Amino acid sequence: MIAKILQGMPLGARRQVEDVVDAVAIARQVENRKVLAQMMPSVARGFIVKKGKQGLPVQMPAHHSAYFDFQYGGEFPEMYDLYRRAVANQWNAETQLDWSIDVDPENPEVPILPEELVPFDGLARHGITLSEKDKMRFIHSFSSWLLSQFLHGEQGALYAAAQVTESVQWIDGKFYGSTQVMDEGRHVEVFFRYLESKLGKLYQVNDNLYVIMDQLMTDSRWDMKFLGMQIMIEGLALGAFGMLYSSTREPLLKELLRYVIQDEARHVHYGVLALKRHFAEELSEQERRDREDWSFEIALLMRNRFMAHEVFEEWFEGRIPRSTWNEIVQEAPFMKKFRVTMFKRLIPNLEYIGLLTPRVQHLYEQAGLMTFAGGKSAAELTARDLLDELS
Ligand SMILES: [Fe+2]
Ligand SMILES: [Fe+2]
Repeated sequence: MIAKILQGMPLGARRQVEDVVDAVAIARQVENRKVLAQMMPSVARGFIVKKGKQGLPVQMPAHHSAYFDFQYGGEFPEMYDLYRRAVANQWNAETQLDWSIDVDPENPEVPILPEELVPFDGLARHGITLSEKDKMRFIHSFSSWLLSQFLHGEQGALYAAAQVTESVQWIDGKFYGSTQVMDEGRHVEVFFRYLESKLGKLYQVNDNLYVIMDQLMTDSRWDMKFLGMQIMIEGLALGAFGMLYSSTREPLLKELLRYVIQDEARHVHYGVLALKRHFAEELSEQERRDREDWSFEIALLMRNRFMAHEVFEEWFEGRIPRSTWNEIVQEAPFMKKFRVTMFKRLIPNLEYIGLLTPRVQHLYEQAGLMTFAGGKSAAELTARDLLDELS
């Protein structure tokens, strides 16, 4: 019924209604009221005001405090080791990547994303068949969208890493954090350069990604920023990077992702080390419960909501309803692959830091995610293991 009414509306008005429907859908999906109350201001800024899409700079006020320790205490030997490893593994994107490689994003011989991973079958079932040329153009759009979201996420990771470096209580954590700031700066550099000079297309930030980043930037609690960025978003990113790394045939992108994945594996490792100790030593029962609930809801949002609406609007808006597009994407081969890659890593990490308690396990069970429990956490996996698994 709603779909019929929407079909009859002019495009601009329809899009506005669909955005409100999306915001309401988040509200419906997030079952925990406390989590929802925390998220709503960011949801309003992301979906209704569309702050990320106005083409203007966005200011997100931060409310955390910088933690100074003039005794330079709070030793954390495992974290210090990780810092040494991060220093030893810094890389120079200018000289270590071969930017002279000529990339043609519409060349079927060297696809950025192989055709079998894109939902052409699903589209055909709804009456949309694309010519071979259009298929390649679509792959160009879709991969540019995906890499644009990587870029925007990296910008968020850069600021989150800087904020956490200020507020974390261990000096070894601050050392490590400073290397992560450099890493994230380099990730922004390489994704932007690849998009600008090789794909020639940059998409606006996805509303869902905007909402999560907005919430993390403005939260005053460093461990929430950390949980959100180092465990949830980095977990999502590692899943997506891994999916693209193992499927792209474009050599420059593959090499770029190989470097980035190695950095990200360390970031998640840092995240689980810090949070395991912090949660065990500093949190009250209630505070831990809040984090259990929050991470479960965010995990579901990440699973259900990254639907590439920006690509839909460019290609199919007016031809099929947005709800049909959502179904097609949800069932698409690349989404299935991505979900497995992401949750296989994320769930063991939540388990390791102590957020997969019996109190919430049945929720993960209902969501079909408990199958990933018992796997290796980031603390037990090297970047090499990750890459081996992906190749
Ligand atoms: Fe990064
Ligand atoms: Fe990172």
